[in-house]
Amino acid sequence: MLTWSESLSTGIEAIDSQHKELFSRINSLLSAMAQGKGKDQVKDILVFLGDYVATHFGTEEKYMRQYLYPAYPSHKREHAEYIERFNRLKQKLDSEGVNSLLAIESQELLVQWWGTHIGKTDKALGAFLRTKIS
Ligand SMILES: [Fe+2]
Repeated sequence: MLTWSESLSTGIEAIDSQHKELFSRINSLLSAMAQGKGKDQVKDILVFLGDYVATHFGTEEKYMRQYLYPAYPSHKREHAEYIERFNRLKQKLDSEGVNSLLAIESQELLVQWWGTHIGKTDKALGAFLRTKIS
């Protein structure tokens, strides 16, 4: 499960509140998978999550463009890679249903990736934005 804590705060309210929402959606997905919920239910959450992630990346990228963030290209690339991996996982879950291999892959992409991305990449963005937005 993902637990939000102050150590993951970017200091930008709009971004932090989206991260918290994202964590709760990811947790619903992981528990649906763990409880062996059907393909359809897992798929519904995945579809929602995919849309939410796209909106969230859009918010961050808008900030980066607006404030001419120097690390924009590499940050954006991380987002694009995530979307690619997420779509691949979604397809596999769709065709195979939940199995232990996909459960591990989901855990990695949904828990580890976000922990690392927020902890490093988004926090660096937050630190930059805080010098621009008073
Ligand atoms: Fe980000």
